[in-house]
Amino acid sequence: MVDLTGRTVFITGSGGVLGSTYVRRMLAAGAKVVSTDLPGPRADALLETHGDNPDFVFYDMDVSDEAAVTAIFQRVMADGWQPNVVLNNAAITGEMLMGKGKSFPDFADTTVEDFEKTLRTNLTGAFMVARQMDRDIVGKYPATLINVASMYALNGAHHRIYDGMPFKNFSAYGVTKAGIHGLTVWLAGYWAGRQATVNTIAPGAVFNGHSEEFQSRVSELIMADRMGKPDEIADVMLFLASEGAGYMTGQLVNVDGGFSAW
Ligand SMILES: NC(=O)c1ccc[n+]([C@@H]2O[C@H](COP(=O)([O-])OP(=O)(O)OC[C@H]3O[C@@H](n4cnc5c(N)ncnc54)[C@H](O)[C@@H]3O)[C@@H](O)[C@H]2O)c1
Repeated sequence: MVDLTGRTVFITGSGGVLGSTYVRRMLAAGAKVVSTDLPGPRADALLETHGDNPDFVFYDMDVSDEAAVTAIFQRVMADGWQPNVVLNNAAITGEMLMGKGKSFPDFADTTVEDFEKTLRTNLTGAFMVARQMDRDIVGKYPATLINVASMYALNGAHHRIYDGMPFKNFSAYGVTKAGIHGLTVWLAGYWAGRQATVNTIAPGAVFNGHSEEFQSRVSELIMADRMGKPDEIADVMLFLASEGAGYMTGQLVNVDGGFSAW
């Protein structure tokens, strides 16, 4: 069991499937959690579950809004929280980009607006959070940044498994997930002299109510022969957030049941 006593974790997009699991597990492991996300039902659910916990606080924060990122970091500090772990977890997924139930366009019909909207959240947003961490935290006390990539960061998507599915893998997603590891390795050296580390976690396919058909198709690509559970990604995330990961920097950690090893 990883002990996160003494860790204050600032997390973006914390209301999603994985984010909410990290919040729950980190609080249980003794961390304080500064949770952020867009306002809405996910944020409400987090507040409902953890709102009474004195080790938990929630701020509305859109990572694509430059002024908001700066302002929220400053409010967090002014409110007396001192994050020493920052987790760039927020991302636009397909459904979020297109709207629920809307079908995804083919690559040829992908608009520049949708491509750039994804870049703005998944990559520019992560950059702005890291930059604010540099301004407010790095060099003042030891800290770590964890960037979230995907099994589709450095591996191409298996487009066939999405045939006939209500969701698809889209180009901007893989582009941003590869890019975020570029941010990790760039920052690792840049921060090395200032007691700050930075790593990337690349989760595999996580089960979230997918159909039997999709589970079967994706499992063929995974050595473990099944999708992952949110808690299995959290197990590794908690380690990366802990002092035990202090000698790791610039690394990409795959948590994908062997998907990337075949
Ligand atoms: N679930 C998976 O199978 C999987 C696999 C690989 C990587 N990942 C990555 O893990 C992270 C979490 O994924 P998840 O499965 O929990 O996704 P999710 O869609 O359930 O959650 C994403 C969260 O990001 C938030 N978000 C979106 N745009 C935002 C913005 N502009 N500002 C702030 N927050 C914003 C959403 O509100 C949501 O709470 C993402 O970076 C995702 O790419 C997930």
